[in-house]
Amino acid sequence: MKGHVPTPPALADRIVEKLFDGRPPSEGDRILFPGVGTGPFVAAVQRYCETRGLPVPDGVGMDTDPELLSEARETHADAGVDLLERDFLGDLSDLGEFRYIVGNPPYVPIEGLSEEEKTQYKERFETATGRFDLFILFIEQSLSVLADGGRLTFITPEKFEYTETAAPLRRLLGQNYHVGGIHHIEENAFDGFTTYPAITTVDATEPGETRVRRRDGSEETVTLRADGSSWASTIRGGDTLTVSGNRTLGDVCQRVSCGVATGADSVFVQDADGVPEQLSDWTYPTTSGKQLRINDGPDSDEVFICPYREDGRLPPEDDIGAFGDWASFRRDRLEDRSCVEKDKRPWYGWHENPPMEDILQSKILCQDVTDDPTFWLDETGEVVPRHSVYYIIPDDPDDLHALHAYLNSPDAHAWFEANCQRAANGYLRLQSRVMRKLPVPDHVAGKAYQATLTDQ
Ligand SMILES: C[S@@+](CC[C@H](N)C(=O)[O-])C[C@H]1O[C@@H](n2cnc3c(N)ncnc32)[C@H](O)[C@@H]1O
Repeated sequence: MKGHVPTPPALADRIVEKLFDGRPPSEGDRILFPGVGTGPFVAAVQRYCETRGLPVPDGVGMDTDPELLSEARETHADAGVDLLERDFLGDLSDLGEFRYIVGNPPYVPIEGLSEEEKTQYKERFETATGRFDLFILFIEQSLSVLADGGRLTFITPEKFEYTETAAPLRRLLGQNYHVGGIHHIEENAFDGFTTYPAITTVDATEPGETRVRRRDGSEETVTLRADGSSWASTIRGGDTLTVSGNRTLGDVCQRVSCGVATGADSVFVQDADGVPEQLSDWTYPTTSGKQLRINDGPDSDEVFICPYREDGRLPPEDDIGAFGDWASFRRDRLEDRSCVEKDKRPWYGWHENPPMEDILQSKILCQDVTDDPTFWLDETGEVVPRHSVYYIIPDDPDDLHALHAYLNSPDAHAWFEANCQRAANGYLRLQSRVMRKLPVPDHVAGKAYQATLTDQ
């Protein structure tokens, strides 16, 4: 069941109101429900039309999940909708065009796709670049069957407004369509998911102005850029970003640091399963930046075989026991590192002494280079992150969860977009000197700070 997050009926009603706003259906109109699931939008369209005495458009619904479809067929037997078990991202040339397209497309990041799917999509969709997500392809595919003058209304994560990956989609929309409205709705609109959803309405007409409604209730009419560049600052109100605070991430954290550099990860990083029993006192779980993304967290099943003790000490060579036995077989390779050759560090040590006492605490982790800054928790505090990972440790451990949520918020994301350096592919570099400057609202890193305020 790829990407099935059902839309609550009241939310489907709000989306359908936007679909028909100013252009009510007339006899013979057609409507498409991509990824129809159990059919909440089918029901919402029926409710809308019946309460207003309007004709219900002829519908086609599509899903790849037979169970959801059979539930939809039972529930909506009289709705006049053809419910097809079919891949919406396949060839739709037999379907004709639709005046209306509405839905909640699947949110499936590239990691959830097979290699074959990725290759196919990249060949067929202009928007399948970088770390694309299925919902982006659903928009492009829908636009290809939207009739002239027709309207599409989708609920999706709002991140297509600013990620580098969605640049081709912003270009496609900005140059060829009229994005009539973008409405940021409540973070908790889908039970149990924090998705930062946006309802976007696109008309197949000449480009024009966009009515934006933000989560704080403010509204504005804006002109979105058509060159693919980020819409974040336009949507958030000029260049005024909504993050503010008296303190920065650097002020509220004891560490915003890059993971450890060994100079020979191919030696020191091993599958946990393959590590001999006698080395069990010399290992720590580890993750690379790429693995954080693939595994959606720090559990990678890999470990560092690590000569450093929990207090950060590198024991002398005659005291490295089982580690020394293991490392001596790799001595030539380890001596062939600049930290040994030039810096004269011990042959079994790492580029720098890792601050193990700091690292071995509950922390927040992120990739060093990404088009979609995402932060994960290592609550166990056991993970020793690799050099492609940054780790963030709050001064007050009680702030861990609030800071983690804040770092993943669109506000923080927009700040990173505006302030981080760009790598060659347009991705963002999350350097610690930049991250340290992120403003942190008072309510986010609260307890210690509130205490100092009351002491004053
Ligand atoms: C986020 S759910 C939304 C379901 C429903 N529209 C709703 O709002 O409750 C996305 C739906 O897309 C379907 N889906 C995923 N990939 C698909 C594909 N390639 N073609 C058609 N449907 C697909 C899933 O089975 C799922 O039902």
